[in-house]
Amino acid sequence: MKTRFLVNIVLVVTVVCMPGCKKKTPAPTEPQAKPEAKEARVMSANEESFGKTSEGREVNLYTLTNTNGLRAKITNYGAILVSLEVPDRDGNLADITLGFDALDGYLKMDTYFGATVGRYANRIGKAKFVLDGVEYELAANNGENHLHGGIKGFDKVVWKPEDLWANDNEALLKMSYISEDDEEGYPGNLACTVTYTLTKDDELKINYEAQTDKTTVVNLTNHSYFNLAGQGTGDILGHELTLNADKYTPVDEGLIPTGEIRSVKDSPMDFTLPMSIGSRIKQVGDGYDHNYVLNSGGGALALAARAYEPTSGRIMEIYTTEPGVQLYTGNFLDGSLTGKAGKVYKKHYAFCLETQHFPDSPNKPNFPSVVLHPGQKYTTETVHKFSTR
Ligand code: GLA
Repeated sequence: MKTRFLVNIVLVVTVVCMPGCKKKTPAPTEPQAKPEAKEARVMSANEESFGKTSEGREVNLYTLTNTNGLRAKITNYGAILVSLEVPDRDGNLADITLGFDALDGYLKMDTYFGATVGRYANRIGKAKFVLDGVEYELAANNGENHLHGGIKGFDKVVWKPEDLWANDNEALLKMSYISEDDEEGYPGNLACTVTYTLTKDDELKINYEAQTDKTTVVNLTNHSYFNLAGQGTGDILGHELTLNADKYTPVDEGLIPTGEIRSVKDSPMDFTLPMSIGSRIKQVGDGYDHNYVLNSGGGALALAARAYEPTSGRIMEIYTTEPGVQLYTGNFLDGSLTGKAGKVYKKHYAFCLETQHFPDSPNKPNFPSVVLHPGQKYTTETVHKFSTR
């Protein structure tokens, strides 16, 4: 007669809190019965040192882990997602984001690997805009244009850790940053937070909040470079991509939107049905670097994109409250960067799906507004949901 073992696993809740961070009491946990469970994995949130910036400021590396083994590592330098380990269809974990093993790589990079980008993600034409009759001049760091918040954007500052905890359902890290009035040319002191939450349902959620004391513009995003087969393993041309977008914003030579909102129909821009990223990439110059106009229109959380990698079976779905998403196919990667585990990053070795408001919105009255007034609260959410097939 077979003996049946019932293993009672009490989920252990790990709560780590650094000085100054608010400790939350996790929800009470019921003991759970799991037959023949091999390993008791727990939701956890941990902190370790990640070294010092060039100005000598200590920064940390935070690890959020869920019960299925998904693991996100985040540093408070640039609020950067350093790595994201996700299982394939056989349960084998791989890190699916490009980046560096040590802080030094992040201090030197100009590729925005995994970074939190702001105060204004993407480009602002001629590095200026007019708000309430006043012209604001920003740092021109991309030819004559302004890119990803300027010379020292939100990706190059030290964020303050505010909260780090895990309970039965999620593991969370919240960080804050105050961008001062006139920083990189923007008006108003802007108090921002970014919160990374890893859920038991294999989602990595990113929430942004911001408030200002003077009318300003805000557009925050995450600039992770994904390769669902595993970082550094090859190009992403075989990934199948679906975008919930019938339209996109065509750009000029400087990648500034012309203002037109054009249908993707009958063009290589069309990803309304699953298509491999590489199938028509040669028809779009160096590759994709375009903002798609999501059918949802923004506001409520809605499915924006789905990427599927056939060899590993990994699927990433992106849900967002934003009205747009930038598809960037690593066109500027040229093999000169060596990243994590000694991997060399070549052209098209990753893709980015940067959920956002449209580029150059401050100069495009027909695009959804990016203006934030004192007393208003900027809140956006993007969810990366992982599964396999
Ligand atoms: C964004 C831009 C690209 C490029 C990368 C960073 O995705 O749209 O043109 O600047 O960032 O290299």
